[in-house]
Amino acid sequence: MTDRYAQLKNDLANESRTWLITGVAGFIGCNLLEALLNLNQKVVGLDNFSTGHHRNLDQIRLAVTPEKWSHFRFIEGDIRTLETCSEACCGADYVLHQAALGSVPRSIKDPINTNQNNIDGFLNMLVAARDANVRRFVYAASSSTYGDHPALPKIEERIGNPLSPYAVTKLVNEHYADVFSRTYGFHSIGLRYFNIFGPHQDPNGAYAAVIPKWVNAMIKGEDVFINGDGETSRDFNYIANTVQANLLAATTENSEAVNQVYNVAVGDRTTLNELFDAIRALLAPEFPHLIDSKPVYGDFRAGDVRHSQADISKAQRLLGYAPTHRIAEGLKEAMEWYINDLTKLA
Ligand SMILES: NC(=O)c1ccc[n+]([C@@H]2O[C@H](COP(=O)([O-])OP(=O)(O)OC[C@H]3O[C@@H](n4cnc5c(N)ncnc54)[C@H](O)[C@@H]3O)[C@@H](O)[C@H]2O)c1
Repeated sequence: MTDRYAQLKNDLANESRTWLITGVAGFIGCNLLEALLNLNQKVVGLDNFSTGHHRNLDQIRLAVTPEKWSHFRFIEGDIRTLETCSEACCGADYVLHQAALGSVPRSIKDPINTNQNNIDGFLNMLVAARDANVRRFVYAASSSTYGDHPALPKIEERIGNPLSPYAVTKLVNEHYADVFSRTYGFHSIGLRYFNIFGPHQDPNGAYAAVIPKWVNAMIKGEDVFINGDGETSRDFNYIANTVQANLLAATTENSEAVNQVYNVAVGDRTTLNELFDAIRALLAPEFPHLIDSKPVYGDFRAGDVRHSQADISKAQRLLGYAPTHRIAEGLKEAMEWYINDLTKLA
């Protein structure tokens, strides 16, 4: 654990602040909720359940004490409505803006809906947070912003052209945040997430992320499909590191660190073939049918970048970010959770 993060958690536990989490019923949002309630913070959550789930909120309620849960207020609403954003921002010290429509393929299928949620909704949140004078607006940016830039590892200042409507929306978010800082003196920080995984990530649906999708398929004895030859690589980052980055970004008092974007990753690179082997090895003791299982290879997917790996030195230097979990540790924790959750549902 980093000194700065340990200190921060200590400080927060002694002084309660009010946080708004948008997208609180989603994967990253509900993990942020659990962490903040456990640090004795007050949390307002906003979600329209378009891709999030009531069960995520129910599971967090059961994971924290009733006393901590009483510090959470939920607003069911949509960031595409400015009044809803204003109501949610009222009284917030910090905003952690996670609500958006994720997934590159979804955005290729339905660019208008992605644009409305990710750009119109984002702008509403910026205006509402500015007018509510929040101390800091931290938002979910994306590694997809690197687009077709071939250099590895990815450095914040060097981006290419976006390869999907989703990537366009996340790039526009960064531009809006930057303009709000120059024009209104508004303080924000963008976190370019690289393939986050962990408990509560949805394994179902056409746009599920690779790790929960594969775990679900493997446990059920179904085929695992790999788009392409399996040598596509990603910098998979465990949720605990992502929570850490959000809390550090919201509270940093380093003026140099504000109005910036940061890579949020581990700095490693894992191919899909390696990922398949790692998940199979973790599940096989519990599910022996997996011992000799092999993936099924298909076509490459439109809009996907071939390789992705972050340089995380900027977040380390300016925010004090220090990932506590590399992929193996994260997969081990996530697998324990999935085995429990998915076998219970089955
Ligand atoms: N998971 C990743 O690997 C990853 C990578 C890069 C960026 N991101 C970004 O992180 C954020 C959170 O992603 P996630 O993985 O938790 O996804 P998720 O789909 O689990 O969570 C998103 C949440 O936002 C809510 N939401 C969507 N549109 C909304 C709207 N108009 N009004 C109110 N609520 C709305 C959904 O119902 C859902 O609960 C998103 O902005 C996503 O683009 C995620």
